[in-house]
Amino acid sequence: MIFTKFKIKNLSLKNRIVMPPMCMYSADGAGFVQPFHLVHYGTRAQGGVGLIIIEATAVEARGRISGNDLGIWNDDQIPGLKSLLDIVHGFGSKIAIQLAHAGRKATIGQGISSWDLKFSDEYPTPIKMNDSDIDQVISAFGEGARRAQKIGFDMVEIHGAHGYLINQFISPLVNRREDSYGCKNGIGTKFLQEIIKSVKNNFKGPIGLRISAEEYSSDGLHPQNFLPMLSEIQQDHSTSVDLINVSSGGVIEKGFPSNVQPGYQIGFANEIKNGTKISILAGGMLRDPKMIDGILIDEKADLIWLGRELLRNPYWPLQALEHFKIEKDKPQQYKRAEPYFRNV
Ligand SMILES: Cc1cc2nc3c(=O)[nH]c(=O)nc-3n(C[C@H](O)[C@H](O)[C@H](O)COP(=O)(O)O)c2cc1C
Repeated sequence: MIFTKFKIKNLSLKNRIVMPPMCMYSADGAGFVQPFHLVHYGTRAQGGVGLIIIEATAVEARGRISGNDLGIWNDDQIPGLKSLLDIVHGFGSKIAIQLAHAGRKATIGQGISSWDLKFSDEYPTPIKMNDSDIDQVISAFGEGARRAQKIGFDMVEIHGAHGYLINQFISPLVNRREDSYGCKNGIGTKFLQEIIKSVKNNFKGPIGLRISAEEYSSDGLHPQNFLPMLSEIQQDHSTSVDLINVSSGGVIEKGFPSNVQPGYQIGFANEIKNGTKISILAGGMLRDPKMIDGILIDEKADLIWLGRELLRNPYWPLQALEHFKIEKDKPQQYKRAEPYFRNV
């Protein structure tokens, strides 16, 4: 099942293995791609990953988590990202970009947010955004999407998770606004809707959305709380998305799971999958090919990400091929080293 094809809109993936966005904090101080990124992502493509979603890439310089985030806020950043895309495509993988804004979780100065509430004592109190700040960020996402289209990315993922700016509007734990950008029925949808519109006006491929489906707080959101919001965005062609990447946590300082084990987020993904008709990407501490295959066979998710496992082992997909005794997609250059992999 892992090695069956999957389509997201017009995008064909050769297997169900996804590298999720993972910040490498290795750009230069101006957000430019470095040789590290080319080798890092190129190796995972060579290792057989079906879809690589590159790390949170800032749509505004002030929206960076760190001074070494990748950026897509100006046209000069296009050629570096294009080289990255060409390398990944050259090894037969598809590549998406995660468009991001850190909001109050930026560490490079005072952040902005839906409300002037700091994330923790280690962060400055953010500026509460007014309508013009909101418009600026919405158009920055649109501009990022325009550049992503120009570069040729196969998909754009909008970062609505982990307590970053979009999540700071979605979550009632952060968003206390009483204007139209506030929470209605316990969830803040409008900022997200406008960002999706802005992105879709500029990017014609499939759109993914990452959410923190569980906030690990009794006053916070749980997977079922997302269903009305997702159903609302799907009803309108200008805001509908093609893939939900179901993650969790990071919205508030204490909002992390206490007891994690492989597959701890699959239940959340399954709830979202059962409640919507949208394709689902899920993961969390996964590495066992049999377990991953089972999740796909049971239709708890359509695609599976492996994060830290792919940092440890870029050749995980090739090892899994060997595990299932599948004779395809192995790089011919390395055939003389077979069996090259021992234990996944
Ligand atoms: C080093 C590192 C950087 C990360 N950066 C991002 C990011 O840029 N965007 C994002 O949505 N998640 C980010 N994450 C979360 C991962 O995408 C993933 O959800 C998490 O690592 C759990 O999956 P895993 O257990 O397979 O590693 C990051 C995780 C790690 C370990």
